[in-house]
Amino acid sequence: MKNKIEVLQDKIKQAHAGGGAARIDSQHKKGKLTARERIHFLMDENSFEEIGMMVTHRSTDFGMESEKYLGDGVVTGYGNINGRLVYVFSQDFTVFGGSLSETHAEKICKIMDMAMKNGAPVIGLNDSGGARIQEGVVSLGGYADIFYKNVQASGVVPQLSAIMGPCAGGAVYSPAITDFILMVENTSYMFVTGPNVVKTVTHEEVSAEELGGASAHATKSGVTHFACANELDAIDHVRRLLSYMPQNCEEIPARLPYEATDENRAVLNDIMPQNANQPYDVRGIIAETADSESFLEVHAAYAENIVVGFARLAGRSIGIVANQPAYLAGVLDNHASAKAARFVRFCDCFNIPLLVFEDVPGFLPGTDQEWNGIINNGAKLLYAFSEATVPRITVITRKAYGGAYDVMNSKHIGADLNYAWPTAEIAVMGAKGAAEIIFKKEISTAEKPEEKWLEKEKLYSDTFANPYRAAERGFIDEVIEPAQTRNKLIKAFKMLENKVVNNPRKKHGNIPL
Ligand code: HXC
Repeated sequence: MKNKIEVLQDKIKQAHAGGGAARIDSQHKKGKLTARERIHFLMDENSFEEIGMMVTHRSTDFGMESEKYLGDGVVTGYGNINGRLVYVFSQDFTVFGGSLSETHAEKICKIMDMAMKNGAPVIGLNDSGGARIQEGVVSLGGYADIFYKNVQASGVVPQLSAIMGPCAGGAVYSPAITDFILMVENTSYMFVTGPNVVKTVTHEEVSAEELGGASAHATKSGVTHFACANELDAIDHVRRLLSYMPQNCEEIPARLPYEATDENRAVLNDIMPQNANQPYDVRGIIAETADSESFLEVHAAYAENIVVGFARLAGRSIGIVANQPAYLAGVLDNHASAKAARFVRFCDCFNIPLLVFEDVPGFLPGTDQEWNGIINNGAKLLYAFSEATVPRITVITRKAYGGAYDVMNSKHIGADLNYAWPTAEIAVMGAKGAAEIIFKKEISTAEKPEEKWLEKEKLYSDTFANPYRAAERGFIDEVIEPAQTRNKLIKAFKMLENKVVNNPRKKHGNIPL
């Protein structure tokens, strides 16, 4: 027995050595942690249990029989994060550059199957040179097996991808299918074709960082939801992000203990600028409404005219979607609509109630918007809210104009409760433009057209630039003092806690993609 245990211990040691000391050293010199170090920081202490440590590849071409590493370039298993079960795979760049072989893929698929059966999130720590070049098509097949499982798991268990190194070629499509992507500044990148191919095909010269680094994807493409300063920051973000989510689609997120105090927030009565066209940062309203320090913004640097993120209200996890008047006046455009739609759908998949702060002048006009599909993108957001069955509440703080009024979680598309502040303006369009259209004749024939225009603008404004016409119809459930917002929302979300709505039976809807 003693000898046999020594053999086992020796094998474990070999597996822990990954691709060897020199390669681990080189990984550290790049400012990167190893696959096992990442797991160590990610999971609760001593909770990680490895599965498949002794797996090796089966390839025989190019002298591969003699080059085998226990684990084959990926560490897989399960453990706890903040006491909750999660499954994790962590690619080991020190073994064949973390490249994906047939067996490497099988290991990932195995823990994904377990996650589905046992209803727990899957976290991928990606650091890989892509398909194992020595293996050819079996490696491509392995990727496709993972993609397929990503899709099967989508909406069943949360899937998070932290990109800690290269992620290139078709490999990007696994993270892209998962719910959230996190990248690390300067040491991670994602692209379908790298700088060399780009140069050959389009003659563009671009660095890997510019093409597919964390900043590029956080600001330009929106592919990553978080650009993290370093690996530990990325790991912290994964842990925090998970805390807002349930284990699977059958559960609701855990509620944190909460002691009620005075929920009145007098400061909100003064938050709105005097002039209705003056910008303000909606994050100020979110900070005063949500539990202290609880807001985790998602996609913070992308489509900043809409703010989305998770927060807590009296300890309950909620998803917030808010127009941002401080950026492009909070207008809805292509990117903002798609960003918010995806977030709404995530929250709905995982029973996270939705809170909307609305202050939107409408959809952004122009050829750029129309030719890039504002019709389809706006429809995505409309569709996402309309199909969401979680508790949904809207607070109209100021403008709710045109189609954007309907789209931003109006009662008409299934919101449960809609509040408005006394500063709300709910109309087809702004008073100036409206007056110009409906009083065109009177203005143009008036002795002093400018004065007539102002008079008619005031008339339209007095009639519609308030919340009361909508409240008379019941489209607004209550006009509230801003200071009462938090209190009202806490009570309302509690009231909606057991909401049940079933959409009509169907195979699946056909959201305009
Ligand atoms: C096998 C690989 C590998 C791969 C890297 N290595 N990528 N082995 N298959 N795909 C090995 C290297 O041989 C090297 O081995 C070690 O990993 C580290 O690689 P380096 O090149 O020394 O590291 P670095 O300079 O940091 O460059 C990293 C890299 C580069 C940018 C990722 O290795 C690279 O360009 N690799 C190829 C990327 C690629 O074209 N992959 C296929 C993409 S297509 P030693 O023994 O020296 O340590 C794809 C299709 C997926 O993935 C399709 C899904 C549908």
